[in-house]
Amino acid sequence: MQQQPGAMGDQEAGGRKGARQPSQPPDVRLELRHVYKSFGGVQVLQDVNFHLNRGEVVGLLGDNGAGKSTLIKIITGFHRPDGGEMLFAGESVRDLTVQKARALGVETVYQERALADQQPLWRNIFMGRPLSNLLGFLGVGRMRRITEDLMGKSMGFTSAALTPDTTVMGLSGGERQGLAIVRALYFQADLIILDEPTMGLSLKETDKLIHFVEGIRAAGKSAIFIDHNIFHVYSVADRIVVLDRGRVAGEFPTSRYSLEELMSIMKEVASTGSFTEAERYQPPRQPASDQAGGMA
Ligand SMILES: Nc1ncnc2c1ncn2[C@@H]1O[C@H](COP(=O)(O)OP(=O)(O)OP(=O)(O)O)[C@@H](O)[C@H]1O
Ligand SMILES: [Mg+2]
Repeated sequence: MQQQPGAMGDQEAGGRKGARQPSQPPDVRLELRHVYKSFGGVQVLQDVNFHLNRGEVVGLLGDNGAGKSTLIKIITGFHRPDGGEMLFAGESVRDLTVQKARALGVETVYQERALADQQPLWRNIFMGRPLSNLLGFLGVGRMRRITEDLMGKSMGFTSAALTPDTTVMGLSGGERQGLAIVRALYFQADLIILDEPTMGLSLKETDKLIHFVEGIRAAGKSAIFIDHNIFHVYSVADRIVVLDRGRVAGEFPTSRYSLEELMSIMKEVASTGSFTEAERYQPPRQPASDQAGGMA
């Protein structure tokens, strides 16, 4: 894509959701430039350009093997790209590791592995990052209270049966996802990645999950939401990026494309590997004179 980061999808994003402030200039949280990755000679990602603004939810769509998880693993420092550049909040970052990515505020929410089933909710929230008191003892009471607070305010757990001492085993799939997202937000993650979070969830739980993703945006954080199902992604994403056989086939602000249009675009991408977006959508030009404060 030739567009500059932030050139698309910001002007009218308030139209559909009404929750964002269109007057704010886009603030690019993450940018990938010309990223390449191959495994054993097979090119899995080719010349990928990608960006994510602050307070933006981007849906990443693509067939099996398109390279979605590989792209995510590059962003989380798990894989190293063969070529290209990665910028976090405008700063070029080389030799990204999982620890570095975490320090930069990147958190990934996987459906299964991230939670300890046998442990109470409060221990799951503070897993790996427990609070201790001045004497160095675990601040169990405080962790319980904070968990209770988060359950009511952020997770919207309304069931009277749930307390901070409930084990994760007793939670539904949607509640588990909610717990993982709330934990990421509590620890100040700026960029939350959800790789196929709706897999195995009921319709009701998927709705709940989508509500949590909206909470990420409302908190001014950013998210990448991967899914096979365009229905799930469309309802929550500000912009949809389509990957096809390792390339970005197109990106589409949901404020400008209807679900039906996007579905037909996806079909075209699947058969041709690309989509001639320029014919359908021209990003509004920002006059250079805006910067100078005068009109030519
Ligand atoms: N560690 C690896 N070693 C070798 N090949 C890999 C590795 N990881 C991914 N691949 C290959 O790279 C390609 C892209 O895989 P990736 O997991 O990124 O796809 P995906 O878009 O996430 O697919 P899905 O929707 O099925 O999760 C696939 O052909 C896969 O077999
Ligand atoms: Mg995958």
